Amino acid sequence: MQQQTIGLIGGSGFVGVHLANRLSAAGHRLRVLTRRRGTARALWVLPAVDLIEADVHDPAQLERHLAGCDTVMQLAGILNEHGDDGRGFRRVHVDLPRKVVATCRLLGIRRYLHMSALNARPDGPSHYLRSKGEAEDWVHAEAGADLLVTSFRPSVIFGPGDSFYNRFAGLLATTPFVFPLACAEARFQPVYVGDVAEAFLRALADPATAGARYELCGPSVYTLREIVEYTARTLGLCRKVIPLSDRLSRLQAEVFERIPGKPFSRDNYRSASEDSVCQGECGLCRLGITPMAVEAVVPGYLAGHSARGRLSALRAFPGQR
Ligand SMILES: NC(=O)c1ccc[n+]([C@@H]2O[C@H](COP(=O)([O-])OP(=O)(O)OC[C@H]3O[C@@H](n4cnc5c(N)ncnc54)[C@H](OP(=O)(O)O)[C@@H]3O)[C@@H](O)[C@H]2O)c1
Repeated sequence: MQQQTIGLIGGSGFVGVHLANRLSAAGHRLRVLTRRRGTARALWVLPAVDLIEADVHDPAQLERHLAGCDTVMQLAGILNEHGDDGRGFRRVHVDLPRKVVATCRLLGIRRYLHMSALNARPDGPSHYLRSKGEAEDWVHAEAGADLLVTSFRPSVIFGPGDSFYNRFAGLLATTPFVFPLACAEARFQPVYVGDVAEAFLRALADPATAGARYELCGPSVYTLREIVEYTARTLGLCRKVIPLSDRLSRLQAEVFERIPGKPFSRDNYRSASEDSVCQGECGLCRLGITPMAVEAVVPGYLAGHSARGRLSALRAFPGQR
């Protein structure tokens, strides 16, 4: 396809870096806007990537840095906010996309790809899902002949650098014998970050995807307990996973959201009250992508977490270092 100049908001994160790599390899020129250039080191070496430090919440800066782009991709997102009143989520998930879309209109940028989340809807159970849902509906309502919008609704995303399998791997490695687990029966359909990035590329190449909302899931559904047990096995760790009751899960959320970095929060607990599983037609398949299995990828990057894990991974993937 024709090379484009693409503005990327949220391009310094886990998904953004994978996506930027793919876009750059496909020959596109990128303008990645970040609040802190230093946090986006992975992008420094990519060809044709202009990494711009900017306040993305300031419309004037958006206008200055996105001028000349053919397409804008919006991936900025947070899993937790300060406090628990939804204002932090709204600022990033609702107010920011509104400003970005308004900037696209102002500058005559005709293509906008939007990152939402599975289960996002304005009456969802958590601030995270409500704010994501409100924004997704709004950007599609704003779409028209002058602004073609496509959005993506992934379940939890896995891949090198993720904060899902890697987080559990870190916790398992430092928790001896038993592992108390909140929301153990919540179900997920993890999707590979490479497939998510490919979905963006396919949508970019095909204007017929305008107006579509793609649910993105992997080939299999797992409970959180199965995911944690699989992670422990992959690392060669013997841990007994103890599912917490609903009351204890909520209590754990209240305690953990006070820990720096908020490993788990009341809002995460509320999001986990609904299975993160795709309904209906497979979004990746609609885009011509065969979803990658967890088992084909995760052992390769979890290997770094333990010596035994490294050994198992080498046995499973002899070519991988
Ligand atoms: N990872 C998943 O499992 C998953 C699942 C479903 C949906 N999603 C969605 O996919 C998107 C990317 O996820 P990710 O895992 O790559 O997240 P991530 O690694 O945490 O990256 C988040 C990005 O958002 C930007 N950001 C964070 N807080 C911001 C703020 N207050 N104002 C402006 N920008 C802010 C960051 O940009 P700078 O720090 O560079 O400014 C960063 O590039 C998010 O919208 C997320 O909700 C992710």
